[in-house]
Amino acid sequence: MKLLEERFDLFFNDLALQKFRDECLTKSVKALQVKNGNIPKWTQALEAFSALSEGQLGLNEPYLSLSDIGASSEMIESNLKRLLPWRKGPFIFNDLTLESEWQGGLKWQRLKNNITPLKNRRVLDVGAGNGYFTLRMALEGAKKSLGIEPFLLFNYQYAAINALCKQKSSSMLLPLRLEEMPSMPIFDSVFSMGVLYHQRDHMLHLSTLKEMMTRNSELILETLIIDGDKGDSLIPEGRYANMRNVHCLPSIDTLKSWLIDSGYRNIRVIDISKTTPQEQRKTQWIGDNPASLEDFLDPSDPSLTIEGYPAPTRAIIICNN
Ligand SMILES: C[S@@+](CC[C@H](N)C(=O)[O-])C[C@H]1O[C@@H](n2cnc3c(N)ncnc32)[C@H](O)[C@@H]1O
Repeated sequence: MKLLEERFDLFFNDLALQKFRDECLTKSVKALQVKNGNIPKWTQALEAFSALSEGQLGLNEPYLSLSDIGASSEMIESNLKRLLPWRKGPFIFNDLTLESEWQGGLKWQRLKNNITPLKNRRVLDVGAGNGYFTLRMALEGAKKSLGIEPFLLFNYQYAAINALCKQKSSSMLLPLRLEEMPSMPIFDSVFSMGVLYHQRDHMLHLSTLKEMMTRNSELILETLIIDGDKGDSLIPEGRYANMRNVHCLPSIDTLKSWLIDSGYRNIRVIDISKTTPQEQRKTQWIGDNPASLEDFLDPSDPSLTIEGYPAPTRAIIICNN
């Protein structure tokens, strides 16, 4: 608890953020007080890392790297493996390479030259996973880079990375859903990547994102889409590419109409890409059940998912508040 408070003091030490500190802290403490049989194993990894001398965070494209950590690769590996599965990344810890399921560098390459440079901006990363992108945003020079992510394991993974890292004041991950956050219209760039299709109410998600944005700020929205015209969308029955909780996949024109109806302006589609097994792949870091995208596509027709839907295609849209 004291450690968490210290982290909050360090991160929320900014005029605009300060007044939200107490509410975010209270809600985060509550979110962390859940019962989960894995917590002792995850805590062991955190405690082991907290006792080490911290390393330097950097970028060795596409890897986020932590160098000069005061421990052997074997010690680091055995503790990182307490935190399986590693979906988001990749990372290098000293000379140990952690190949996560997702090769996150590919998504970053698709968007980085199209966004307003993050230097000196306050950035919100909604659905941040273990903070791979949140940390990349901080490395781009963001004044503050705040990730929010309700999934507990990802919060422990972020805490493990953070424990090994000297630079602690410019990024933070809170264990909260967007809807649980206070309305904080202080962010200059807001990212929602891979989150919209998981929402039961996509319009509510778009309007709640807007409540977090300053005037003229930028939303970077990445989501699954389908081919089709305005008004078309896919509501999968059951799973989609083996994923649960996929609610609605719009066509590009449908998505644009949602954004217009939510009050966004200056809507630009900057990328449309099919997700490939090079981007979402099987690696030894995803644990005992190493199935990945190639297992979720129809073996006789990879343009379809195993459920018979169009295979995953993602769009990135940038727009302004
Ligand atoms: C597919 S992952 C994407 C992770 C990362 N943004 C990326 O692009 O690789 C979606 C994440 O969003 C989180 N999520 C889902 N609904 C959310 C919500 N309402 N608020 C915040 N996070 C949410 C999930 O827990 C999950 O980790």
